[in-house]
Amino acid sequence: MILEWLEYLRTKSTKTAKDWGYVYQNISLKFRSRRCAKAWKSHNENCREFVRGHLAKTQPKSIVVVGSGLLLEVPIEALLATAEKVYLVDLVHAPEIRRLAAKHPQIELIERDISGLLGLLKKGTGPFQLKNIPWKQLPVWDLPKVDLIISANLLSQIPLMISEALPMTSETYEKFARSVRDQHIERLFGQSQKVLLFADFETRYIGHDGQRIKTEMYNVNLQDLKFDREWIWEISPFGETSKDYKIEMLVRGYYS
Ligand SMILES: C[S@@+](CC[C@H](N)C(=O)[O-])C[C@H]1O[C@@H](n2cnc3c(N)ncnc32)[C@H](O)[C@@H]1O
Repeated sequence: MILEWLEYLRTKSTKTAKDWGYVYQNISLKFRSRRCAKAWKSHNENCREFVRGHLAKTQPKSIVVVGSGLLLEVPIEALLATAEKVYLVDLVHAPEIRRLAAKHPQIELIERDISGLLGLLKKGTGPFQLKNIPWKQLPVWDLPKVDLIISANLLSQIPLMISEALPMTSETYEKFARSVRDQHIERLFGQSQKVLLFADFETRYIGHDGQRIKTEMYNVNLQDLKFDREWIWEISPFGETSKDYKIEMLVRGYYS
Protein backbone atom coordinates (compact mmCIF):
# COMPACT_ATOMS: atom_id res chain seq x y z
CA MET A 1 0.00 0.00 0.00
CA ILE A 2 2.86 2.38 0.84
CA LEU A 3 4.55 1.69 -2.50
CA GLU A 4 1.27 2.33 -4.29
CA TRP A 5 0.82 5.61 -2.42
CA LEU A 6 4.36 6.74 -3.33
CA GLU A 7 3.61 5.86 -6.96
CA TYR A 8 0.41 7.90 -6.73
CA LEU A 9 2.43 10.93 -5.62
CA ARG A 10 4.92 10.42 -8.48
CA THR A 11 2.24 10.21 -11.18
CA LYS A 12 1.47 13.54 -12.84
CA SER A 13 -2.06 13.89 -14.12
CA THR A 14 -5.06 16.12 -14.58
CA LYS A 15 -7.52 16.75 -11.75
CA THR A 16 -10.19 14.92 -13.78
CA ALA A 17 -8.05 11.76 -13.98
CA LYS A 18 -7.41 11.88 -10.22
CA ASP A 19 -11.00 12.69 -9.26
CA TRP A 20 -12.48 9.89 -11.37
CA GLY A 21 -10.00 7.29 -10.11
CA TYR A 22 -7.96 6.78 -13.29
CA VAL A 23 -4.63 7.44 -11.60
CA TYR A 24 -5.42 4.89 -8.93
CA GLN A 25 -6.46 2.42 -11.70
CA ASN A 26 -3.22 3.00 -13.60
CA ILE A 27 -1.19 2.24 -10.48
CA SER A 28 -3.21 -0.79 -9.55
CA LEU A 29 -2.74 -2.08 -13.13
CA LYS A 30 1.02 -1.72 -12.68
CA PHE A 31 1.13 -3.60 -9.37
CA ARG A 32 -1.29 -6.24 -10.54
CA SER A 33 0.69 -6.81 -13.73
CA ARG A 34 3.74 -7.50 -11.54
CA ARG A 35 1.87 -9.89 -9.23
CA CYS A 36 0.30 -11.71 -12.19
CA ALA A 37 3.32 -11.49 -14.52
CA LYS A 38 3.41 -15.24 -15.18
CA ALA A 39 -0.32 -15.52 -15.87
CA TRP A 40 -0.40 -12.40 -18.10
CA LYS A 41 2.73 -13.21 -20.15
CA SER A 42 1.00 -15.02 -23.02
CA HIS A 43 -1.80 -12.43 -23.22
CA ASN A 44 0.68 -9.53 -23.49
CA GLU A 45 2.62 -11.42 -26.14
CA ASN A 46 -0.58 -12.26 -28.08
CA CYS A 47 -1.57 -8.57 -28.15
CA ARG A 48 1.88 -7.51 -29.30
CA GLU A 49 2.03 -10.22 -31.95
CA PHE A 50 -1.40 -9.21 -33.27
CA VAL A 51 -0.25 -5.57 -33.62
CA ARG A 52 3.16 -6.50 -35.08
CA GLY A 53 1.53 -8.63 -37.79
CA HIS A 54 -0.66 -5.75 -38.95
CA LEU A 55 2.17 -3.22 -38.80
CA ALA A 56 4.22 -5.41 -41.10
CA LYS A 57 1.32 -5.62 -43.59
CA THR A 58 0.22 -1.97 -43.59
CA GLN A 59 3.46 -0.04 -42.80
CA PRO A 60 1.68 3.04 -41.33
CA LYS A 61 3.68 6.25 -41.07
CA SER A 62 1.52 7.74 -38.32
CA ILE A 63 -0.22 5.85 -35.49
CA VAL A 64 -2.57 6.74 -32.66
CA VAL A 65 -2.84 4.27 -29.75
CA VAL A 66 -5.87 4.88 -27.53
CA GLY A 67 -5.70 3.22 -24.11
CA SER A 68 -1.90 3.09 -24.31
CA GLY A 69 -1.74 2.62 -20.50
CA LEU A 70 1.56 1.08 -19.44
CA LEU A 71 2.32 -0.26 -22.94
CA LEU A 72 2.18 -3.79 -21.57
CA GLU A 73 0.20 -4.98 -24.59
CA VAL A 74 1.66 -2.60 -27.16
CA PRO A 75 4.91 -3.42 -29.05
CA ILE A 76 6.22 0.13 -28.83
CA GLU A 77 9.61 -0.77 -30.33
CA ALA A 78 7.86 -2.08 -33.49
CA LEU A 79 5.67 1.04 -33.66
CA LEU A 80 8.74 3.26 -33.44
CA ALA A 81 10.59 1.20 -36.05
CA THR A 82 7.67 1.54 -38.50
CA ALA A 83 6.11 4.98 -38.01
CA GLU A 84 7.45 8.52 -38.06
CA LYS A 85 4.92 9.64 -35.45
CA VAL A 86 3.29 7.71 -32.62
CA TYR A 87 0.58 9.37 -30.48
CA LEU A 88 -0.10 7.65 -27.15
CA VAL A 89 -3.53 8.63 -25.83
CA ASP A 90 -4.69 7.90 -22.29
CA LEU A 91 -6.01 9.77 -19.29
CA VAL A 92 -2.85 8.83 -17.38
CA HIS A 93 0.78 8.50 -18.45
CA ALA A 94 2.89 6.76 -15.80
CA PRO A 95 6.38 8.17 -15.02
CA GLU A 96 8.10 5.42 -17.07
CA ILE A 97 5.93 6.23 -20.12
CA ARG A 98 6.88 9.92 -19.74
CA ARG A 99 10.57 8.93 -19.57
CA LEU A 100 10.20 6.81 -22.71
CA ALA A 101 8.53 9.68 -24.56
CA ALA A 102 11.29 12.05 -23.47
CA LYS A 103 13.85 9.72 -25.12
CA HIS A 104 11.92 9.37 -28.38
CA PRO A 105 10.84 12.57 -30.16
CA GLN A 106 8.64 10.38 -32.40
CA ILE A 107 6.32 9.83 -29.43
CA GLU A 108 3.73 12.40 -28.46
CA LEU A 109 1.73 11.88 -25.28
CA ILE A 110 -1.88 13.06 -25.29
CA GLU A 111 -3.86 13.16 -22.05
CA ARG A 112 -7.47 12.96 -23.11
CA ASP A 113 -10.77 11.51 -21.98
CA ILE A 114 -11.77 9.56 -25.05
CA SER A 115 -15.32 8.95 -23.76
CA GLY A 116 -16.01 12.70 -23.92
CA LEU A 117 -18.22 12.16 -20.86
CA LEU A 118 -16.12 13.09 -17.86
CA GLY A 119 -16.52 16.84 -18.36
CA LEU A 120 -20.27 16.41 -18.62
CA LEU A 121 -21.13 13.93 -15.88
CA LYS A 122 -20.98 14.84 -12.22
CA LYS A 123 -19.23 12.18 -10.17
CA GLY A 124 -21.12 11.06 -7.08
CA THR A 125 -24.50 12.46 -8.15
CA GLY A 126 -27.46 10.30 -9.18
CA PRO A 127 -27.46 8.15 -12.31
CA PHE A 128 -30.51 10.16 -13.56
CA GLN A 129 -28.02 12.33 -15.50
CA LEU A 130 -27.25 9.31 -17.72
CA LYS A 131 -30.72 9.58 -19.28
CA ASN A 132 -29.96 12.97 -20.85
CA ILE A 133 -26.56 12.42 -22.42
CA PRO A 134 -26.38 14.29 -25.77
CA TRP A 135 -24.62 11.39 -27.52
CA LYS A 136 -24.39 13.17 -30.88
CA GLN A 137 -22.96 16.37 -29.37
CA LEU A 138 -20.19 15.08 -27.12
CA PRO A 139 -16.78 16.80 -27.48
CA VAL A 140 -14.96 15.56 -30.58
CA TRP A 141 -11.73 13.60 -30.10
CA ASP A 142 -9.63 16.34 -31.63
CA LEU A 143 -6.81 13.91 -32.35
CA PRO A 144 -4.59 13.94 -35.45
CA LYS A 145 -5.80 11.99 -38.50
CA VAL A 146 -3.42 9.06 -38.91
CA ASP A 147 -2.66 6.02 -41.08
CA LEU A 148 -3.58 3.62 -38.27
CA ILE A 149 -5.47 3.82 -35.01
CA ILE A 150 -5.11 1.10 -32.38
CA SER A 151 -7.71 0.66 -29.65
CA ALA A 152 -5.64 -1.15 -27.04
CA ASN A 153 -7.88 -3.16 -24.76
CA LEU A 154 -10.16 -0.46 -23.44
CA LEU A 155 -13.50 -1.06 -25.18
CA SER A 156 -15.01 -2.73 -22.11
CA GLN A 157 -13.07 -0.50 -19.72
CA ILE A 158 -14.43 2.89 -20.81
CA PRO A 159 -17.97 2.47 -19.41
CA LEU A 160 -16.84 0.18 -16.60
CA MET A 161 -14.41 2.73 -15.17
CA ILE A 162 -17.08 5.45 -15.28
CA SER A 163 -19.56 3.17 -13.51
CA GLU A 164 -17.04 2.62 -10.70
CA ALA A 165 -17.20 6.34 -9.88
CA LEU A 166 -20.87 6.76 -10.71
CA PRO A 167 -22.73 3.70 -9.41
CA MET A 168 -25.80 2.63 -11.39
CA THR A 169 -28.18 -0.32 -11.59
CA SER A 170 -27.20 -3.13 -13.92
CA GLU A 171 -30.08 -2.24 -16.24
CA THR A 172 -28.96 1.40 -16.51
CA TYR A 173 -25.38 0.23 -16.94
CA GLU A 174 -26.26 -2.07 -19.84
CA LYS A 175 -27.82 0.77 -21.86
CA PHE A 176 -25.17 3.30 -20.95
CA ALA A 177 -22.26 0.92 -21.64
CA ARG A 178 -23.71 -0.12 -25.01
CA SER A 179 -23.91 3.53 -26.13
CA VAL A 180 -20.36 4.22 -24.93
CA ARG A 181 -18.96 1.18 -26.74
CA ASP A 182 -20.83 1.91 -30.00
CA GLN A 183 -19.65 5.50 -29.87
CA HIS A 184 -16.05 4.30 -29.39
CA ILE A 185 -16.19 2.21 -32.58
CA GLU A 186 -17.76 5.09 -34.54
CA ARG A 187 -15.02 7.42 -33.40
CA LEU A 188 -12.24 5.01 -34.32
CA PHE A 189 -13.54 4.98 -37.90
CA GLY A 190 -13.76 8.79 -37.83
CA GLN A 191 -10.07 8.92 -37.03
CA SER A 192 -8.52 6.56 -39.58
CA GLN A 193 -9.48 4.17 -42.35
CA LYS A 194 -7.27 1.54 -40.76
CA VAL A 195 -8.42 0.41 -37.33
CA LEU A 196 -6.94 -2.29 -35.10
CA LEU A 197 -8.86 -3.20 -31.98
CA PHE A 198 -8.23 -5.78 -29.31
CA ALA A 199 -10.43 -6.09 -26.25
CA ASP A 200 -11.96 -8.56 -23.83
CA PHE A 201 -15.40 -9.77 -24.93
CA GLU A 202 -16.23 -12.40 -22.33
CA THR A 203 -15.37 -12.87 -18.65
CA ARG A 204 -15.35 -16.40 -17.22
CA TYR A 205 -15.26 -17.35 -13.54
CA ILE A 206 -13.83 -20.86 -13.17
CA GLY A 207 -13.69 -23.12 -10.10
CA HIS A 208 -10.95 -25.57 -9.05
CA ASP A 209 -12.83 -28.38 -10.83
CA GLY A 210 -12.51 -26.50 -14.14
CA GLN A 211 -16.27 -25.81 -14.27
CA ARG A 212 -17.50 -22.34 -15.17
CA ILE A 213 -19.31 -20.66 -12.29
CA LYS A 214 -20.42 -17.62 -14.28
CA THR A 215 -19.90 -16.07 -17.73
CA GLU A 216 -20.40 -12.38 -18.56
CA MET A 217 -20.67 -11.00 -22.09
CA TYR A 218 -21.65 -7.74 -23.72
CA ASN A 219 -22.81 -6.43 -27.08
CA VAL A 220 -21.32 -3.82 -29.36
CA ASN A 221 -21.73 -2.84 -32.99
CA LEU A 222 -18.32 -3.58 -34.48
CA GLN A 223 -19.39 -2.13 -37.84
CA ASP A 224 -16.96 -3.24 -40.57
CA LEU A 225 -14.26 -4.62 -38.29
CA LYS A 226 -13.10 -8.08 -39.34
CA PHE A 227 -12.28 -10.82 -36.88
CA ASP A 228 -8.60 -11.78 -36.85
CA ARG A 229 -7.90 -13.98 -33.82
CA GLU A 230 -8.83 -14.71 -30.21
CA TRP A 231 -7.09 -15.96 -27.09
CA ILE A 232 -7.61 -16.45 -23.37
CA TRP A 233 -6.21 -14.01 -20.81
CA GLU A 234 -5.93 -15.45 -17.30
CA ILE A 235 -6.45 -12.04 -15.72
CA SER A 236 -6.95 -13.25 -12.18
CA PRO A 237 -5.30 -16.53 -11.17
CA PHE A 238 -6.52 -18.41 -8.07
CA GLY A 239 -5.79 -16.27 -5.01
CA GLU A 240 -5.75 -12.90 -6.83
CA THR A 241 -9.48 -12.08 -6.60
CA SER A 242 -10.61 -15.21 -4.73
CA LYS A 243 -9.06 -18.47 -3.58
CA ASP A 244 -12.18 -20.30 -4.83
CA TYR A 245 -12.12 -19.25 -8.48
CA LYS A 246 -9.92 -17.77 -11.18
CA ILE A 247 -11.05 -15.28 -13.82
CA GLU A 248 -10.30 -15.62 -17.50
CA MET A 249 -11.18 -13.27 -20.33
CA LEU A 250 -11.78 -14.10 -23.94
CA VAL A 251 -9.85 -11.47 -25.90
CA ARG A 252 -10.43 -10.87 -29.59
CA GLY A 253 -8.47 -8.92 -32.18
CA TYR A 254 -10.21 -7.13 -35.10
CA TYR A 255 -8.97 -5.02 -38.00
CA SER A 256 -10.28 -2.99 -40.91
C1 LIG B 1 -6.80 -2.32 -19.58
S1 LIG B 1 -5.99 -0.79 -19.64
C2 LIG B 1 -5.10 -0.96 -21.17
C3 LIG B 1 -3.67 -1.36 -20.95
C4 LIG B 1 -2.73 -0.90 -22.06
N1 LIG B 1 -3.26 -1.20 -23.38
C5 LIG B 1 -1.34 -1.45 -21.90
O1 LIG B 1 -0.79 -1.96 -22.87
O2 LIG B 1 -0.76 -1.30 -20.80
C6 LIG B 1 -7.22 0.37 -20.14
C7 LIG B 1 -6.65 1.78 -20.34
O3 LIG B 1 -7.68 2.61 -20.86
C8 LIG B 1 -7.57 3.88 -20.26
N2 LIG B 1 -8.90 4.50 -20.30
C9 LIG B 1 -10.06 4.02 -19.80
N3 LIG B 1 -11.05 4.89 -19.99
C10 LIG B 1 -10.51 5.96 -20.64
C11 LIG B 1 -11.03 7.21 -21.11
N4 LIG B 1 -12.31 7.54 -20.91
N5 LIG B 1 -10.18 8.07 -21.74
C12 LIG B 1 -8.86 7.74 -21.90
N6 LIG B 1 -8.31 6.58 -21.49
C13 LIG B 1 -9.13 5.71 -20.85
C14 LIG B 1 -7.12 3.59 -18.84
O4 LIG B 1 -6.50 4.73 -18.25
C15 LIG B 1 -6.16 2.43 -19.06
O5 LIG B 1 -4.84 2.87 -19.23
